[in-house]
Amino acid sequence: MVYIKSIAPTNIAVVKYWGKNPKWEKYLIPLKSSVSFTVQDFYTETELKANKGTGNILFNLNDKAITPEMKEYEYVSEMFGKTFELFPNTKNYDYDVKSKNNFPTAAGYASSASGFAALARALQGAMKELEPDFYSKYMANDKLLSVFARLGSGSATRSIPKKGGFVMWKRGINPKKQGPETFKGEELNNQIFSSYSKTLVSPDEWPEFRLIYTKIEEKEKKIKSRPGMKSSVQTCPIYNDWVEYEEKTAMPAVIKAVKEKDFPTFAKLAMQCSDGLHAVMGYTYPRILYLNEKSQELIDAVNELNAGEMKAAYTYDAGPNAIVFTLEKYENQVIEQLSRIIPKENIAVTRLGKGSRITKVEK
Ligand code: DP6
Repeated sequence: MVYIKSIAPTNIAVVKYWGKNPKWEKYLIPLKSSVSFTVQDFYTETELKANKGTGNILFNLNDKAITPEMKEYEYVSEMFGKTFELFPNTKNYDYDVKSKNNFPTAAGYASSASGFAALARALQGAMKELEPDFYSKYMANDKLLSVFARLGSGSATRSIPKKGGFVMWKRGINPKKQGPETFKGEELNNQIFSSYSKTLVSPDEWPEFRLIYTKIEEKEKKIKSRPGMKSSVQTCPIYNDWVEYEEKTAMPAVIKAVKEKDFPTFAKLAMQCSDGLHAVMGYTYPRILYLNEKSQELIDAVNELNAGEMKAAYTYDAGPNAIVFTLEKYENQVIEQLSRIIPKENIAVTRLGKGSRITKVEK
């Protein structure tokens, strides 16, 4: 038996992931690359026990046993299922997984990102002890490990790199390329490992950077990201143009702005990329709408604050809660402005953080 404890942070995308390559959907290979910030104070801690066995999985989330008919179990068992299929050595064990988030699950706080990153990191720790050859070949570094996290949830891949900070998830396979049926064995593995994450800027390179979480609504989201993005890929008429524009123009510009610590340029691009994602959702049929009236009020408040000088940028994912990016010197002003709309106790400030890591190993 081995016991591993791991921790992984959430991440917030600036250039968003919203759609899988239909040919490679099973392996969660995206249609475009994305970039995100690793968050310091919101994370998942996971305890994993692995015993000799046949691939049985027990899962407990936030102190609640998750049974096979529950949605959360399905996602976890799918991740293990794909791992067992690609790497049969991993099926020689039974797994007992206990995960805890220190923030609300499924309300647009990217819990699947930290959850699957922590699970992949714990699995890495277990395989290092139990299957050292398999570990050395397929799991021994963050680039490889980011692929295992992706098999659970796309955004989880960006929570893997140890350095954290500003992370890029490369899409890998060009959407025009053939599907998995034309590849076998190692060739198939090479394709699957072509889409991975890496740190571009570490947290200590931009220590003044702040992320402000706003809690507008705590309810579970109406439409899960997974079916939502699939519907956008299938029905949104501007989807391919959005991919093309972001891959070739927006993403390189965001990366340049972050590397140069050019906040005004970054802030404008970040808001446009968020608005672009929600435009794609709006052009999906049936329409996907995550923002509510309060979200719009917050957008107006940020724009008002930015009238003279760029001080803040909002971003929204699959929910009505905004993350606002700012710099230390504007932090108080931004909080004042936001607290006109949201009670101060629903506003939390955090910074760029490190990525996932193992915190305990027992044999
Ligand atoms: C809007 O990673 O939750 O947060 O890969 O199907 O598990 P699956 O989806 P998920 O989608 C996240 C979408 C997003 C944008 C982003 O984080 O890039």
